[in-house]
Amino acid sequence: MHHIWPGEHARVVDEPELERLYSYPAEPTWLAVNFVSSADGAVAIRGRSAGLSNPADRVVFQLGSDLADVVLRGAGTVKKFHGVHPDEQTAERRRRHGLAPVPPTAVVTTGLSLPPTAPVITEAVTPTIVITCGAAPQDLRKAWEAAGARVFVAGDQAVDLAAAVAMLTEDGLGRIDCEGGPRLFASLLSAGLVDELRLTLSPLLVSGDASRITAGLPVDPAELELASVLADGSTLLLRYLTTQLQQVDGELR
Ligand SMILES: NC(=O)c1ccc[n+]([C@@H]2O[C@H](COP(=O)([O-])OP(=O)(O)OC[C@H]3O[C@@H](n4cnc5c(N)ncnc54)[C@H](OP(=O)(O)O)[C@@H]3O)[C@@H](O)[C@H]2O)c1
Repeated sequence: MHHIWPGEHARVVDEPELERLYSYPAEPTWLAVNFVSSADGAVAIRGRSAGLSNPADRVVFQLGSDLADVVLRGAGTVKKFHGVHPDEQTAERRRRHGLAPVPPTAVVTTGLSLPPTAPVITEAVTPTIVITCGAAPQDLRKAWEAAGARVFVAGDQAVDLAAAVAMLTEDGLGRIDCEGGPRLFASLLSAGLVDELRLTLSPLLVSGDASRITAGLPVDPAELELASVLADGSTLLLRYLTTQLQQVDGELR
């Protein structure tokens, strides 16, 4: 057990160190999931995560997309999202890291809740990638394309997320910053696709019936290995690496 806070060894983290901590490793694919949660586990206050966030969370959240090839979201988290529109700091950071000027957004949908008029498609700087499945109607797929999106079909009746991640990687978009909600996170976890969890623990208790950071069918537990801890006032900014345990003969291994 280590005593990490308060500590005489605490020091201020500068920007190069922040960028180093939040960079994506040199792997063909690396999928990092971002969340902010209250101390009692809620991911939203009155349906929105904004009330849980704070300046420190916004710094690390920004690093997630600034250093990624693509931002991944579910259709449940793009209703008011207009895609990435970099400011000068982001543009400079991406230039320095040799990244494309603007990462596209990839939106996962079966076709039920992503209209072609969604701002994430119509207002995107880099064409948005709609990741859908064979069950999505042909005319809807054509309408997404007519509105400026690229359409990837992964899976038949449901979106096959492993196939989707493979398609993104083949497209040169292997550094994946997931800003989706609890349902997308649970599906990615159940497919064993999550490499890293970036979790801000916000110093708030909010009660209510908001979701946790995962929502869906139970998965075999994913074990987390702590990769870094930053503190800003009473906010904790945690990075964990995941290792998914599997049931073998009734035991978790
Ligand atoms: N605190 C935080 O950091 C944080 C972050 C994100 C979101 N949130 C909160 O979470 C809530 C939204 O969560 P959400 O779970 O609805 O968003 P989400 O996971 O981003 O989107 C879920 C949607 O993704 C689509 N989808 C298609 N295939 C899927 C698959 N295989 N697995 C999962 N999703 C698939 C479905 O849309 P179709 O019906 O179109 O198929 C589904 O309704 C909001 O209240 C938001 O504030 C909080």
